[in-house]
Amino acid sequence: MEGTTGFGHTRWATHGAPSRENAHPFLDCQGTIALAHNGIIENHSSLRAELEAKGHKLTSQTDTETVVHMVEDAYEGNLEAALRSVLPQIQGAYAFALMHASEEGKLVVARKDSPLVVGLGTEENLFASDVHALLRETSRILYLMDGELAVITPTDVDVYAPDGSLVKREPEVVSWTVEDSEKGGFAHFMLKEIFEQPGVIHSTLLGRVSDLESDDLLRGGTSHVKLVACGTSFHAALAGKYIMEELAGVPASAELASEYRYTRASGEKPLVVLVTQSGETADTIAAAREARKRGCRTLAITNYLGCTIAREAEDVLYTRAGLEIGVAATKTFTAELMGLYLLALRFGVDTGHLTADEARKWTDELRALPRAVQSVLDSAGEIEKLAREYSNSRSMFFLGRNINYPISLEGALKMKEISYIHAEGYPAGELKHGPLALLTEETPVVALVPRDHTYEKMWGNIGEVSARGSPVIAIAYEGDDEMEKYVDHLLHVPWVKPVYSPVVNVVALQLLAYYTARERGCSIDKPRHLAKSVTVE
Ligand code: AGP
Repeated sequence: MEGTTGFGHTRWATHGAPSRENAHPFLDCQGTIALAHNGIIENHSSLRAELEAKGHKLTSQTDTETVVHMVEDAYEGNLEAALRSVLPQIQGAYAFALMHASEEGKLVVARKDSPLVVGLGTEENLFASDVHALLRETSRILYLMDGELAVITPTDVDVYAPDGSLVKREPEVVSWTVEDSEKGGFAHFMLKEIFEQPGVIHSTLLGRVSDLESDDLLRGGTSHVKLVACGTSFHAALAGKYIMEELAGVPASAELASEYRYTRASGEKPLVVLVTQSGETADTIAAAREARKRGCRTLAITNYLGCTIAREAEDVLYTRAGLEIGVAATKTFTAELMGLYLLALRFGVDTGHLTADEARKWTDELRALPRAVQSVLDSAGEIEKLAREYSNSRSMFFLGRNINYPISLEGALKMKEISYIHAEGYPAGELKHGPLALLTEETPVVALVPRDHTYEKMWGNIGEVSARGSPVIAIAYEGDDEMEKYVDHLLHVPWVKPVYSPVVNVVALQLLAYYTARERGCSIDKPRHLAKSVTVE
């Protein structure tokens, strides 16, 4: 298409099937105003009824289309004024982009509860939901705050507060480069990101391991830590529960963000730790607000400077995973684990559970993790062979106990989201309470067996599985060779302290999922039906 001003949108369907009629942008009845939207309009049914009663013709099943017709009604020659007058009537979450045929060279954008960033270029200005999309053009980014509206032309960006007053804000310069957003010789972003993990662990720890100074995060009556997150970040949060208990001696629990807000406040005020790589997950942001409403102190672990959760939470611990493009989270997961280890060690010192000397010993072991992860990556060929053998499976199980139970969940999630094989993660002891009925000779079972206090019990569980004829792939420490006699495949990972074993185990599982998906010819970086940031609740 010819022209100098425009926008596009990849729709993540909330209302109406993915189809041409439901695709953005939407036009008003005259075909002069175009609008794209990320989010959900919650009161769209009543808005649609009102518009149809006035004679508007809506052509899609989407919630979004209502807004372009409302702007049409309000339009008196100035697009931003029309949008501003419509916004108070809209309930829900939105990032809007609009243009009008007779206001050439002008884009109007607005956001509430959905992300939107503006990039300042040379003789051009841009916007997107995500910084990634802009890196090729600029590193100067203006973050739009909730409720703000911006008017973008090739030479100017004017940001307005909800009351219409002009906002003065300096752009931030992001350090991620275009190279970060390229594959660098790897077949997929996911593989590149898996291989970046030793560096990510190193950078997340850099300058922080010696800094275990306390502040009052756990003081003032906080009796426990509640970790709240979604998806892969929830698995990090669940691992975080074990990490907190082991390293900090602090009682901890993990809860899905989409469930947390529907639980009843108990009167207790835990420190709520929100784990989210993007910092834009709508459920996690809603949980942060709920936690504050309940009077809890909030701390976010996230990977994106300037993201919404960083503004919602009182404290932030940034992971340093860099840009992650593959929809399946890999390096951001290990970075989140690193954040949780650091936090737990600090709490451990704060509460007196660890002496400074003990904390130092634990951090020395943390520093050894990049090398351990590299050695798992060096065995990628072996994992690839294994993946080929089982790539036709219809169903798989992943078993772990204690701190490796969340890792079994993560291994299963990686497998299902990119290879589309049905996969279940289970605490190994639960298998006999039902799921054992599903095991056949065609159901591979991956067992995580570090030498910790669950080792003997895991042996027992492997026996139960083998007795049902299922092929067993065990992931165990180097030197643990005896197991070879009892399992079909043994993958070795280097010895690390058991509390750190999730880090080496998960890398092996990420590779297994990746090579399985590749063997099956799946769309690895963009799995069907999924989005990198889930900005709807
Ligand atoms: C993981 O591979 C998924 N893409 C997904 O589960 C993700 O972890 C989840 O949506 C949470 O995202 P966040 O970390 O950005 O909050």
